[in-house]
Parts: sequence; C-alpha cells; structure tokens
Amino acid sequence: MKRKLLSTIIALATVASMLAGCGAAATQEAAPAADAAKQEAAAPADAAAPAADGIQVGIVLPTKDEPRWLQDQAQFESILGDAGFTNQVLFSQGSSATEKTNVETLVSQGIKVLIICAQDGAAAAAAVEAAKAEGVTVVAYDRLITGTDAVDYYVTFDSFAVGAAQGQYLIDNAPAGKKDVPLYLYAGAATDNNAFIFFEGAWSVLQPKIADGTFKIANSSEAEGLKDKAELTRDEVAKIIGQVTTDWDFNVAKSKAEAHLTANDASLKGDVVVLAPNDGTARSIADVFATDKDVTSYVVTGQDAEKASVQYVIDGKQSMTVFKDTRTLAADSVAMAVSILKGETPATDTTYNNEKKDVPAKQTDIVVVTKDNVKAALIDSGYYDASEFTGL
Ligand code: GAL
Repeated sequence: MKRKLLSTIIALATVASMLAGCGAAATQEAAPAADAAKQEAAAPADAAAPAADGIQVGIVLPTKDEPRWLQDQAQFESILGDAGFTNQVLFSQGSSATEKTNVETLVSQGIKVLIICAQDGAAAAAAVEAAKAEGVTVVAYDRLITGTDAVDYYVTFDSFAVGAAQGQYLIDNAPAGKKDVPLYLYAGAATDNNAFIFFEGAWSVLQPKIADGTFKIANSSEAEGLKDKAELTRDEVAKIIGQVTTDWDFNVAKSKAEAHLTANDASLKGDVVVLAPNDGTARSIADVFATDKDVTSYVVTGQDAEKASVQYVIDGKQSMTVFKDTRTLAADSVAMAVSILKGETPATDTTYNNEKKDVPAKQTDIVVVTKDNVKAALIDSGYYDASEFTGL
C-alpha cells in the first residue's frame, strides 16, 4: 500500500507541476499521469488514497459571479480530479448561511479536508468550527478566517505585496514632477480580511507620497485625517474602508466613483491616479473616469488578471493588474490536503494571526502585469491562450 500511495502522490505532484508549468493547455497532456493515479488508487486502504466513494476533499468558494473564483474552481477540479481524488466544489453565492450549509453538506459526505475561501472571514468561524468538531482539517484558502482556533492552515498569496505593488505602480506612473495629484482610493469588502491587508500594503507606499504633497486624497476624509500616520491600526483602516469600500461589487464601485466625481470640482480632476482593489471594480471605475470631461488622464490599478481586464490592459483602459497564479494556489492547497490525508504535517513558510492564533501558512508570490509584460506573464506561461484576446 505504501508504494501505491507513493506513486499516487508522485502522479499528483507531476500533474500539479505540469499544470504549474504549462497551464490550461497542459490539462490534457497531464491526463495519462492522472489516469495512472486513478488506477493506482483502485484499492484505497488509507485516507490518502482516492476513495471509491465518499468525498475526501471539500472546497467552498465565495461566489460564481466573480471570474476570479471560476479560475480557482477550474484548477481544483483539474488537479484533484485528474489525480483521482474525490472532491466537490460548492459556491456560497455571497451568503454566509449558504456557506455554512455547504460546509455541513460536505461534512455529511465524509470529507477529511475542507478547503474554504470565506465569504465573510468572521462569520465563517461558525462553519469551520462545525467541521472541526467532526474531525475535519480546515484549510483557509486565499482569505483568512478570523476569531477562531478552528483554522488549521492558510494558503494564500502575499496580499500585502499586492497592495504595495498597486500603490507603487501609481507612484511610478503619476505625472512626473507634479504636486497635489488627485488620488482616489477604493477598497474591497470590509468582511474580507484581505481587503485590510491590500489596503495596508498600498498605504505603506502611498502614505509618504501623500504626506509630502505629491498626492492629494480626493475621496476620503478619514484617509485625509490619517495622512501623517505611516502605520494604521485595524480600526483606522476600517474607517477608511467604510468610506471607500466597493464591497467587491462593480455596481457599488461604479456608483461610488460617479458620486465622487460629481462631488469634486475640477481641482480634483485633471491627471488623476486611482487605487482600485481588483479587476471587476477597476473596469467599472475606469469606465466612469474615462467619461468625465474634466479627467484628462487616469492611472488605475487592478488585481486578478481576469480575462476582461487583461483585454482592458491591452487596450490601455486599465493600467495594470496583479496576476495571482491560481494554478499555484490550488496546487499548494492540494499538496497540503494530501499531506494531511497522509497524516503528515504540511509544509508552511510563515504564519498569519487571525485574532485567535498564529495560523501556519503557505504564501505565494504575485506578479505585476502591464501592457509590456502581458504576453510573457499570461500567454507564454500558458495561463491564457493568445486567441482569447485582440490586439496582443
Ligand atoms: C480577495 C481576493 C482577490 C479578489 C477579491 C474579490 O479576497 O484575494 O483576489 O478576487 O477577493 O473577490
């Protein structure tokens, strides 16, 4: 059995590394290895081998309505499925109640490992505590679950680096030598721990430029009041987010941007820079700024390398995006799940405090994507196909 188990793991690792190296196109090439893994798994006798029935790994993602999470779903299904591990992906559709029901459903199906990206980091505590009580190992995926010790591991991108890269991009691409360049700040949902980390990362580089008069905050009295503070407390960040949240919703982002431009006179327009937290919100904010006759130029950030935003970047309508390679994150979580199923302690490289404990975490780097490297970062790496875009 040990040897069978080992070859299953090797096959899984092969699939994962092929996916990591070659992307979507590699899914088919990887099929023989996956088939081998399935055959090896024919007679499972311990928890790490794929089971004949029952679900070993349950995955809960926040919503189908943001392309970002469909990218993650595709990676999970291909890596786990190809390797013959039984799994199911369920979506919470923006509801913590649905999320909890999803977790309960998966637990009743016998999962050993739960990989969950919380809709609301605090509210998800109850769901994972219920899973933990049934002996399930809980892996927080991408977003940390807070205020509970029922989180065993955390697999994440370097979210502080995401925000810092967005802020730095605005600094590097602001009109040279100008003072008082209007800076519009937007943030993610206050229920998402990442929204805080992204903002803190951005603030770490933007704050000195606000304090020295390069940028002038155009849409947040709370941020303006804190402009001389290099490090903000969580409560202070919460106050700013309270004013400039998009709720990760492009309609909210659009109406906020419209309201801000309506409220501001021409002195807060001209050449502007905009911190938009992710791609969906960046596109709607960019569309609003593009139609204001007093906005001469705008630089706008993004995150996730969603297809629609990659096209916006190619077309010069969105300035940058941050590529978070979901192949790596999904593969890392799967590798973690396999270690857990084997009864081993998974490899981690840092910890994140969730207000209850220091959660052992595995962290992945991010890549800044602009018009200049879009082909190298996203096409040559096999993440997307060139045929999905025009004007490349
Ligand atoms: C974050 C996630 C981002 C982005 C955002 C909107 O938590 O890390 O990649 O997708 O949510 O859903």
